[in-house]
Amino acid sequence: MNVVILAAGQGKRMHSELPKVLHRLAGRPLLAHVIATARSLDPGIICVVYGHGGERVREALDEPDLVWVRQEPQLGTGHALAQALPQLNTTTPTLVLYGDVPLTRAQTLRDLARAAGKAMALLTVLLDKPHGYGRIVRSLGKIKRIVEEKDATPAQRTLRETNTGIMVLPTARLKDWLAGLKNKNAQNEYYLTDVVAAAVADKVPVHWTNPADTWETLGVNSKAQLAELERVFQRQGAEALMRDGVTLADPARIDVRGSLVCGREVSIDVNCVFEGEVVLGEGVSVGANCVLRDVKIAAGTRIEPFCHLQEADIGARCRIGPYARLRPGTVLAEEVHIGNFVEVKASQIAARSKANHLAYVGDTTVGRDVNIGAGTITCNYDGANKHRTVIEDDVHIGSDTQLVAPVRVGKGATLGAGTTLTRDAPAGALTISRAKQLTVPGWKRPVKKHKE
Ligand code: UD1
Ligand code: CA
Repeated sequence: MNVVILAAGQGKRMHSELPKVLHRLAGRPLLAHVIATARSLDPGIICVVYGHGGERVREALDEPDLVWVRQEPQLGTGHALAQALPQLNTTTPTLVLYGDVPLTRAQTLRDLARAAGKAMALLTVLLDKPHGYGRIVRSLGKIKRIVEEKDATPAQRTLRETNTGIMVLPTARLKDWLAGLKNKNAQNEYYLTDVVAAAVADKVPVHWTNPADTWETLGVNSKAQLAELERVFQRQGAEALMRDGVTLADPARIDVRGSLVCGREVSIDVNCVFEGEVVLGEGVSVGANCVLRDVKIAAGTRIEPFCHLQEADIGARCRIGPYARLRPGTVLAEEVHIGNFVEVKASQIAARSKANHLAYVGDTTVGRDVNIGAGTITCNYDGANKHRTVIEDDVHIGSDTQLVAPVRVGKGATLGAGTTLTRDAPAGALTISRAKQLTVPGWKRPVKKHKE
C-alpha cells in the first residue's frame, strides 16, 4: 500500500517556534514515531506532506526511503492529500496517517487495511468527550459522512463516535473525489473527511474498525496532550520491561528515551532516565535518580544513586557512584570502583582499579589494580591542548595528587600524597614532591585588637 503522513499543519496551540511534528515524545520527534510505524507496515511508498515550518521538518527527518511533498499554502487535509496523489501507486490502497498522532499500533493499521479491502475504512473511536473531533454520521448502522465539530448541528455534536483521521482509501478513486472537494465550510478548508460522502454517493462501501486502546488515536495539539501521551508511552515501555523480567521499583517513575535492552535479573530504582541506546547486562542494578545515555554495562555491576553516565562502556562487577560522572570515552574493565564525586572522561581503566573519592581522571590510561587517592586530578589541559596521562599497573597514588600531562607513572610506583607530578615517575619507586614540613618555634597566633 501507499502511506501518506499529513504533517503540514501549524500547531498554534503548542505556542512554539518549533513545527508541531518536531516536538519530542520519548526523545524523538512526533513525526519520527509515525514514520517508524509506517515503515513497520512495509509499504510501497511513504509520502510525508509537510509545509508549516518549511524545510525544517524535512531536514530533521530526511531519509532516502521517504518521499517529501510540500503543501504551500495549507488549505486543509483534503488539499494536503491531493498534493501527494501524483506520487502514489493507484493500484494499491492508501493509508492516511497524521504526523501529530504518534502512538498508533501497527497491528491496528493492519486490521484497518484488511477491513478496507478494495473499498474504504475509517478508524473510529467512541469518546466520552468528543469535543473538537469530526463526528461519524451513520444511518441504519452504515457510515454516511463525517461532520466536523465546527460545522455540526447541535444534534450531531452529541454523537460520540469520532473520526480519528486515520483511514484507508482506494487510491484510484481519489483523483475524482479530491477534485470534487469544496471549501464552503466553517473553516474554509478542503476537508479530507468529505471523501466519505463522495464514496457513499459512488456506492463504495465505507467500513470501520476501532483501536484496541483509545490512546492510539490521540493527537498532540498542546503541551498538556504531549505530556499525557509521553506518560502513555512510558507506561507501555515500563510494562514491556516488566514482562521481560526487569524489576522496576515504580513503573510510573522510569523514562526511556531510546532503547533499553536488559539481561536477566536487572533492577532499576525510581526516577532513572535512559537515553539513546542503553544495554544492561545480567544482574545489573541501577540506583535511584540516575541518567544513562548511550551506555553499555556488563553483568553484575551496581550503579549507586545519582550517577550521570554518558557514552561509557562499563565492565562486569563494577561499582559506580553514588554521585559519579562518566563522560564520553570512558571504558572500564571488570571490578573497577568509581566512587562519589569522581569524574572520568576519555579514559580506559583496567581491572580492579579504584578511584573512590573526589577525583578527575581525563585522557588517561589506567592499568590494573591501581588505587587513585582522594582529590587526585589529571591536569590534562594546558589551555590550548589536551595531553594524556599513563598510569601503569599496581600504581598507588596518594591523595590530593596532580598529574600534569603528558606524564607517565611506571608500574608499581607510589606517589606521595600532595605530589604535583610534572615528570615521569619511575616504576617501583616512591616519588614525592612536597614542600618540607616546618614547625616555627615560639610563634604566636595573632589576637584581635579591641577598639574602645
Ligand atoms: C482532523 C479531521 C477530524 C478528526 C481530527 C482527528 C479533517 C477535516 N478533520 O481535524 O475529522 O476528528 O483530525 O485528530 O480532516 N494537515 C496538513 N495540511 C493541512 C491541514 C492539516 O498537512 O492543510 C495535517 C496536520 O498537520 C495534522 C493533520 O493534517 O497532522 C490534521 O490536521 P488538523 O488541522 O489538526 O485537523 P483537525 O481540525 O484536528
Ligand atoms: Ca488535530
